[in-house]
Amino acid sequence: MTIRPDTFAYIRDALHRRTAIHLTENKEYLVETRLSMLARRNGHRNVDALVDQLRIPGSSVQWHEVVDAMTTNETSFFRDVTPFDVLRDKVLPALTGNTPTTKKLHVWSAASASGQEAYSIAMLWDELRDQYPGWDLEILATDISHNMLERGRDGSYSELEILRGVSGRRLGRHFHRVGDRWQINQDLKKHVDFQYLNLIHAWPTLPKMDMVFIRNVLVYFDHPTKCNLFAKVRKILKPNGFLFLGGAESALTIDDQFERVFDSGGSCYRLKSEYTT
Ligand SMILES: C[S@@+](CC[C@H](N)C(=O)[O-])C[C@H]1O[C@@H](n2cnc3c(N)ncnc32)[C@H](O)[C@@H]1O
Repeated sequence: MTIRPDTFAYIRDALHRRTAIHLTENKEYLVETRLSMLARRNGHRNVDALVDQLRIPGSSVQWHEVVDAMTTNETSFFRDVTPFDVLRDKVLPALTGNTPTTKKLHVWSAASASGQEAYSIAMLWDELRDQYPGWDLEILATDISHNMLERGRDGSYSELEILRGVSGRRLGRHFHRVGDRWQINQDLKKHVDFQYLNLIHAWPTLPKMDMVFIRNVLVYFDHPTKCNLFAKVRKILKPNGFLFLGGAESALTIDDQFERVFDSGGSCYRLKSEYTT
């Protein structure tokens, strides 16, 4: 059994309007799989019935639950490894090398999912901070999934999530066990602030960023959406700041004001010098 064509069209169009997530044709199965649990939870016999209810103005079905169900939140600690090596070996020395007016680094993990990326940066910073006396680092982690933001604020991870990127040494240093889960330590949590932010809508006032991580989310957006997003990133990034993208993503086809740096396998970019003055 599959969902009706009008159910698919409604979810595809409304999801695109709200999140810019672009569902290609033939993704009926995805909508059905992702929304069937929500349909059951709301007492509907199937996804068509859930969406019929959603379409009624003032419906009891909450759109944010649909967004939570439809987003792909795949992530892991120290995902792809290389960006974190580049951060440790190149980016932090570069950002702290000049004579700064303040000794604070602002980092944004945009599309943070359940927080593994933000906490990976916080772990690395904690391990390196003796090399940067007097410096502080603050991480803003944002997403459109309320579920994911709650998970990030909780900072509690399963054994499997830990096994996918946290070494034994890091586990001992940054986590403690609570029941059958691993809880991130409080002194790391205080570096990370989780907030709702939709990348395609107007952004709230944000501090100028030294580093922006927008990894593994561009893949869901069409080209004009990516171009608009990069124009906004340019404004929020400090002139000497760095942009990190996912392994399968590239700034070069989106915005020619960025250049790839540090032989980073395509993960790290900076604004070309002619655009920073
Ligand atoms: C595949 S995860 C990537 C997580 C992390 N950046 C990483 O690379 O491991 C994509 C995330 O993007 C979020 N997302 C999708 N559309 C978004 C939008 N319009 N604004 C903000 N976040 C969005 C999803 O909720 C999801 O958590």
